[in-house]
Amino acid sequence: MRKVQLITSNLGKLKEFRAALEPLGYDVAHLPLEVEEIQADTLEEVVVDCMRQVRALKVKDFIIDDSGLFVDALKGFPGVYSSYALRTLGCEGLLKLLEGADKRTARFECCVGCSLEGREDIVLSEACEGRIVQGMRGQGGFGFDPVFAAKGEERTFAEMPLDEKNAISHRGKAIKSLARQLR
Ligand code: IMP
Repeated sequence: MRKVQLITSNLGKLKEFRAALEPLGYDVAHLPLEVEEIQADTLEEVVVDCMRQVRALKVKDFIIDDSGLFVDALKGFPGVYSSYALRTLGCEGLLKLLEGADKRTARFECCVGCSLEGREDIVLSEACEGRIVQGMRGQGGFGFDPVFAAKGEERTFAEMPLDEKNAISHRGKAIKSLARQLR
């Protein structure tokens, strides 16, 4: 088994990465390292800068990811500021910003960066298209899950069992895409 460290403060992500990468021979360990996120327009820029910081700490063989919710009627906000927007506005604040808006389309995006010795760095992004529903629904998940429904779905992410969410979510897709590239 080749060891790779996932840099995250979210243990839910660890489970998802493990399920996808262990069958490929990767032992995914948890590295709870605090990395500063720069202000940038895209998740890719944030991830690439985080990878630079981690490398400067002499950490080898690691994976890092960043995600966000991009709402079309808000010109992509909260996007790279999603964790800040969740802490300050919350789901209710986001719904308020969309009051009266005709267009409620949105997407979750996830960017994953993977640095393994002897391989070129991998930086990839995946998205899950959907919409912001009219009110908060569901008890599961985290973050903006109660207000987001994927395209063609009536249930919000917070109303879906975790394995169903992971099968279609931005992060689930990005992890599968990373597994494909590592194969
Ligand atoms: P991070 O990738 O954990 O840094 O995610 C940043 C922020 O994006 C979170 O604090 C949430 O606000 C939002 N977010 C990312 N992924 C999800 C998800 O799957 N469900 C709900 N909110 C998410």
